[in-house]
Amino acid sequence: MRTPVIAGNWKMHNTIAESRSLVRELKQLIHDVTDVEVIVAPVFTSIGAVVAEVQGSSIKVAAQNMHWEMQGAYTGEVSPRMVKDAGCSHVIIGHSERRQYFAETNQTVNKKVRAALAAGLTPIMCIGETLAEREAGTTMQVVAEQVREGFAGMQATDISCCIIAYEPVWAIGTGKTATPAQAEEVHQAIRGIIAEIGSSSVAASMRILYGGSVKPDNIDELMREPDIDGALVGGASLKADSFFRIVRFQR
Ligand code: 13P
Repeated sequence: MRTPVIAGNWKMHNTIAESRSLVRELKQLIHDVTDVEVIVAPVFTSIGAVVAEVQGSSIKVAAQNMHWEMQGAYTGEVSPRMVKDAGCSHVIIGHSERRQYFAETNQTVNKKVRAALAAGLTPIMCIGETLAEREAGTTMQVVAEQVREGFAGMQATDISCCIIAYEPVWAIGTGKTATPAQAEEVHQAIRGIIAEIGSSSVAASMRILYGGSVKPDNIDELMREPDIDGALVGGASLKADSFFRIVRFQR
């Protein structure tokens, strides 16, 4: 009942020409995929070209970040309405690289999630613990706080419009994937928190994606877990054939 989502986070890769050629290849491959929502997140400069290229296909386009104000004197920032205007339907918010290198906090994530919804974008809110937090046994507390603070002050109907991506920081770009059981345990806990702060029906319909070294050879076992509804893919989304194999996961 929850349509799976496979999203490719291209991070800071690909020029306009490279983005266009990657999405063109992908478009050919996934032309008959109807049971999975496929999203790609290029850099800002490539969004226009990618949006033009996906016309007539089911591929959706996300931005990797945005500011929370709709406009103003914020040199170097891009606003939610500009992201929407460029043709994006989704926006990744609070990725661990943004939290780690650009000082994003649960509070800025909350402002951005609300601003995305106000602009008609679907936020993909990223959460996840660091290696030190996992080793200290605080994973569940950290993740619970990220969910509660990320959605602070929001109505259940607004929370229901969001997607969550659970990305353990120690699994990102390291080749070290969480085991399906480790991921499932956290996904289940996240769904429990959504039931508390939203409602049981919001929790039942919320898509919770896993991210962190997702590859063609581990997607199937991850997707067999009942609370894993898709993936946010970094490195393996930069090649059309590996991303396509992930889109075509076998449960
Ligand atoms: P990798 O798939 O390269 O580990 O990256 C995961 C990620 O950060 C997706 O947002």
